[in-house]
Amino acid sequence: MNQILENILSRRSVREYKSEQISKESLDQILLAGRYAASGKNKQPWKFIAVQDKKILNLVDKTLKQSILNIDSENTTEVISKYLNFLKPKAESSDDLFLGAPTLIIIAAQKDNYTSRDDCALAAGNMMLMATELNIGSCWLGMLPIFTEAPEIRNIFEALGIPENYDIYSSLALGYPTKDFKKIIDKKDDVIEII
Ligand SMILES: Cc1cc2nc3c(=O)[nH]c(=O)nc-3n(C[C@H](O)[C@H](O)[C@H](O)COP(=O)(O)O)c2cc1C
Repeated sequence: MNQILENILSRRSVREYKSEQISKESLDQILLAGRYAASGKNKQPWKFIAVQDKKILNLVDKTLKQSILNIDSENTTEVISKYLNFLKPKAESSDDLFLGAPTLIIIAAQKDNYTSRDDCALAAGNMMLMATELNIGSCWLGMLPIFTEAPEIRNIFEALGIPENYDIYSSLALGYPTKDFKKIIDKKDDVIEII
């Protein structure tokens, strides 16, 4: 099978990581794959912040957990409120929200740009595929974007170099998996129509 298709089909979300850090060379290749994603009008509106410093990862984890526990789910949309119900037990647990991954890539982009959300999703997809090629596990983590406006989260991200006019659209856990993760599974096959 051709290599790109094999990576696309066999990439699985990894939720258990070794503590060993990924190599600098691999991280650089993953970030390069993100930078070369297509973007609306080629604006490349993003910033990718790879966090590997354990103290910062712990701080983000702790702050995010507190934000999850403090947020009033009644004042959010039904969809977010459901997601928060799923997140609350995780926030109460001592396990870290980033699945123990040694690297977290935060994907932020300019708020006032119409295609930022799409651009970031595509960049994240590229990075997950590159990681798969390098036998590095990855998982998209959806909770950070919910708190992109929360002052306690913004304070941390501003210190990490995410400007005020940027929102966080995605974050990716990255690391060596505890077990082989590549597997081709069944996916919906009734989603295509060729007319
Ligand atoms: C937008 C988006 C948000 C996601 N959020 C989470 C998340 O917060 N936590 C998590 O463990 N997985 C998350 N995932 C991973 C999905 O659960 C996973 O892609 C899906 O179950 C399909 O499995 P696969 O990635 O192995 O094909 C997310 C994926 C996407 C695309």
